[in-house]
Order: sequence, then structure tokens, then C-alpha cells
Amino acid sequence: MQNADLIIHNAGQLVTCASGGKPKRGDAMRDVGIIENGAVAVKDGVIVGIGKTSDILSEFAGNEADVIDAEGKAVIPGFVDPHTHIVFAGDRLNEFELKIKGADYLEILAAGGGIISTVKNTREASFEQLVEESRKRLDKMLACGTTTCEIKTGYGLDTETELKMLRVIEELDKTHPVSIVPTFLAAHAVPPEFKGNTDGYVDLICDEMLPMAWEWYESSHFFRPSDPLQAGHMRSGQIPFYADVFCEKNAFDLTQAERFLTTAKEIGFKLKSHVDQFTNLGGSRLGIELNAASIDHLDAISDEEIEMLAQSETVGIVIPTENFNAGKTQFANARKLIDASCALALSTDYNPGSAPCPSMPMAMAISCRYQKLLPAEALNAATINAAFSIGLGETHGSIEIGKNADLTILDFEDYREMIYEFGKPPAGDLFIGGVGI
Ligand code: NIG
Ligand code: FE
Repeated sequence: MQNADLIIHNAGQLVTCASGGKPKRGDAMRDVGIIENGAVAVKDGVIVGIGKTSDILSEFAGNEADVIDAEGKAVIPGFVDPHTHIVFAGDRLNEFELKIKGADYLEILAAGGGIISTVKNTREASFEQLVEESRKRLDKMLACGTTTCEIKTGYGLDTETELKMLRVIEELDKTHPVSIVPTFLAAHAVPPEFKGNTDGYVDLICDEMLPMAWEWYESSHFFRPSDPLQAGHMRSGQIPFYADVFCEKNAFDLTQAERFLTTAKEIGFKLKSHVDQFTNLGGSRLGIELNAASIDHLDAISDEEIEMLAQSETVGIVIPTENFNAGKTQFANARKLIDASCALALSTDYNPGSAPCPSMPMAMAISCRYQKLLPAEALNAATINAAFSIGLGETHGSIEIGKNADLTILDFEDYREMIYEFGKPPAGDLFIGGVGI
């Protein structure tokens, strides 16, 4: 008999999303690895046993308080949200109303609104204010079942504020149970002081901001895995640092995006990019050729680029919350991406403008209805594939032996109900690193 710190048993469905060390593709997306009447045993925050309840209870023992009866409910992995912009100050309620009346997102941006209005607020906000505002957003994500997420900078667009945002991200990771992966998105928009001189801003990013951001990373706790982390953050290894660019009209063209991404790669960053959200500028091809961890949005990706993506290690992240928020009826063709054997992940893109949404269940609900994903495909995209898209596929995103014990006992017996019902957080009992939250 082995000792365990936590045993969850009598799960009507233990939904593992197990993938055997690689992102899921094609038919494997329809399999969420259900063990009926399953159980999971946890030791030191890590999953040490998975199987039928009878087998796990005869193999592992724990204190009475740590042996939890799931009462036939479904147990799923914590969600991994691989694309968010939750560090910002203020809101964009005026823009919400302008868009309802017919204003266009890129026109608002070109007129100095949109992202730039959030930049103004974020530059003015103190470190403490940003930590507090962002913490509340992380709380909402956690309440919706997200246990790991990526967070981007990109509302500073000057060296000082971009570095302030990185420090906010680190502070959140140190003090909040959700595990965080940082991304440097100084190439999110062109700041007002460089209006008409995008190349000048790209010079500043490449010559000053990227090297300073990397210096920050090397002195941060993401770089030094041995630093003590708060309960719940049961990681092994270094957390990667990504660089990201918005390759789009009124933002950065293909040449500027290439310069940014290749400079970042030379410094040591892993890569991501916002591509094909509105316009195909060739960003998907560029990201795949540079071996980006993910290319995100993909509404305007071409068939040829879908084929390239399928042959690559790059994960495609689709963001149906953005289309929903804009009231669009067209969505990225996630069905085609899965059928072509691309590794597909889902995210909320939680941000004040294009997707003010903290909820992965909402992203899955939209995806199933408008992108024609089956619930199993949506769940794999929101867990294991999302974990691979932020470099954490070995440690997060599924219920497999050796992984962090990040999981939720749902209030449902069939996991599909959390997607079938929509519009409320999927209440349940959440554990991060085996610790009840
Ligand atoms: O992923 N596309 C650019 N960036 C974000 C939106 C950020 C904002 O509107 O503040 C996105 O949609
Ligand atoms: Fe985004």
C-alpha cells in the first residue's frame, strides 16, 4: 500500500485527456480518455495513480480527510488558457457601444482608440493597481476552471511600461494559484509617439526592449525553477518566455513581423504570433517557418498554410470568443484545421477590447456551436493541446502519471454537460497541484 496526499475516487467519468507526450491531432481529438468509475491518487502535488476506483483504493491509502468521494461526478483536467491579455487598466465600455452601433475594430484602432486607449490607462496605472485589477481577472478565470494560463504584455508599448507589465505578471504568478506563462507582446500596436513611423518603433523594440525583457526573464522566477513557489505550483523545469507580434493591417506588416520574430528568436525567446485575425498577410507561413510554438486567430489562414501547419510542430490556436464578441457569423475554420490533422487549441483571448471573456467553458460552448467541434474536441483543445501551445505539455493539461494534479470535480456526471449548458461557470471542486482551492 502506498501513501497518497489526495485520492479522488468514484468519478463516474475520469476524463484524462491523456495524449502520451504529444499534442492530439485528427481522430485522437475525439477521444478524451475516459475511465469509468475512475480514481486518481496524488502525492506531493503530482499524479501518482490513475485507474478504476477499486484498483486505486487497494493500491493507495490516505488520511480520511484526503480521500474524496466524487459521488459519480465527472473529473476533468484544469483548463489551460493559452492566450490572454489580462494585465491592463480600465475598460473599453465606450468601444463596446460604438461597435454595437457599427464601428469597426481596425478603424477604432487607427483612430487612436481600441488597444491604444488601454495603453494610455495602463501607462498611468501603478504596479500595485495593475496587480490588483489583474488579480481579479485571474480570480474569474479560476472560478471558470482555468488552472494555468499564458499572459501577454502589450498595453505599455514603451520600455518602462512593458517591463512594469512583466513584473506584474511575475507578481501574479507568485501570489495567485493559477500557474502563468509570460509573453512579451511589445509589437501589439504602434504607440502614438511613433504614429507614421512603425519601422522606428520596431527599431526600439529590437534594439532595446527585447534585450531588456530577456534580462528581466533571466532574473525572474520563471527562469529559475528551483525558486520556492506557492502551494499549487508543482512545476518541474523552466517556464518558457515567448515573444508575440500582431501581424495585421494598421499594426505590423510581414516584414516588420519577421524582423521582430527573428530578433527575438536570436535572443532566446520562443515564438507566438497573432495572425490572420482579419487579413492574410502571410503571417501563418512566417510563424510556421520560424517554428513558432503557436499561431493564433487563423480566421483568414489559407488552405496551403493549413497544410503547412498540419506538417509542423506549431499549434494553431483559435479564438471564437473574439468573433462572438464582435457579433460575427464567420469563425476560424477549426473543423477544417482538425480534419487536416493540425494540432488545435482553444483560448479565451481575455482582453478589454476584442474578447472580454474569462471563461474557457464559454469558448468551448461557442466553438461547438459555430466551429462545429464536438465536445471532446473542444475539451482536448482547451486542456492538453493548449498546454503544448505554451510549452507545458509535459507537466500540465491532462490527468496522467507524473503531471501536476490540476483537476476539477464537475457538478455534472457527463463532462459534455458543461458545454451543452452555457453561460455560467461550471461549479465544481478545483484542485491545483493537489491542493483544494
Ligand atoms: O488578440 N488582436 C490583437 N490583440 C488582441 C486584442 C487586444 C485588444 O483589443 O485590446 C486580440 O484580439
Ligand atoms: Fe490576442
